[in-house]
Amino acid sequence: MKEQLEAIRTATKQALSSCTDAKQLDQLRVQYLGKKGELTAILKQMGKLSAQERPAMGQLANQVRTDLEQALAEKQHALSERMLQHKLEAEAVDVTLPGTAQRQGSMHPLHIVEQEIREIFLGMGFSVADGPEVEYDYYNFEALNLPPDHPARDTQDTFYITDDILLRTQTSSVQVHVMETQKPPIRVISPGRVYRSDTVDATHSPLFHQIEGLVVDKGVTMADLKGTLKLLMQRLYGDDCKIRLRPHHFPFTEPSAEVDVMCFQCHGEGCRMCKGEGYIELLGAGMVHPKVLEGCGIDSSVYSGFAFGLGLERIAMRHYQIGDMRLLFENDTRFLEQF
Ligand code: PHE
Repeated sequence: MKEQLEAIRTATKQALSSCTDAKQLDQLRVQYLGKKGELTAILKQMGKLSAQERPAMGQLANQVRTDLEQALAEKQHALSERMLQHKLEAEAVDVTLPGTAQRQGSMHPLHIVEQEIREIFLGMGFSVADGPEVEYDYYNFEALNLPPDHPARDTQDTFYITDDILLRTQTSSVQVHVMETQKPPIRVISPGRVYRSDTVDATHSPLFHQIEGLVVDKGVTMADLKGTLKLLMQRLYGDDCKIRLRPHHFPFTEPSAEVDVMCFQCHGEGCRMCKGEGYIELLGAGMVHPKVLEGCGIDSSVYSGFAFGLGLERIAMRHYQIGDMRLLFENDTRFLEQF
């Protein structure tokens, strides 16, 4: 029995020394120390021994068992150390390798111009109002003094969703929301998308952007309108920039004007850019029609106001000398990268 025990000890240790993975190690544990293992099988024969032999054999058997358990534990430890080592090596990061370059984005020219105008108006004490792009006919037309059969509706080719729901054709719709919910003094701008069913070409797009402005207070006059717009243009185009107001008609303003800005290419002389005019048309404006004020619950005998609406694309195209409006919407990175 003694020889058998020693043989198991040697065999196990030999097997252990050539064992290379955890699965194999487990097999060895079962093979030698398991319930049906070789050592157990020998121990079962213990009963056949004489009373004198038994204690010494028992001791030896226990020794072998402890010995093997320890050897197995050591091997297991060594194996897991090695596995960890392998894992660390495999996952090692070479911090000296060059990184993956991230391309930096840039701001869209429309966004840049909008931000610039927004800042100018915030500096003058305006706040920013937002309104829905899917709008009721009432806010886009009717409350702006354009009843259902008004001919001026035809000039804004409208995308109707139902008979009384549409995609707003102008940010003037926000005026009505603001006046319905705020009491004068009111001083807001409202930038946003507007929609008209225009065919796409170099100067038209079915989706474009406007910035609406609205001021309502006691004693607001046309001079305030002109002063405000002049300041805006001087901030945008320099202190020597001049504007001029031409009489026009909008149903929701009276009087109404179209506002031109002095051509910054020729400074009023007349050139190709301004088609010899010396001035370039930039926006529509006027004194808020008393009917519009009254419709929103504002007493037109106490309050007056002015409003204006400017097209962002037009300003951005002038600003960056972009010849084709489509470039603003195609999102070609070769174009966008330039800003
Ligand atoms: N909403 C007008 C347009 O889209 C512009 C405008 C705004 C005119 C406010 C007067 C006052 O053409």
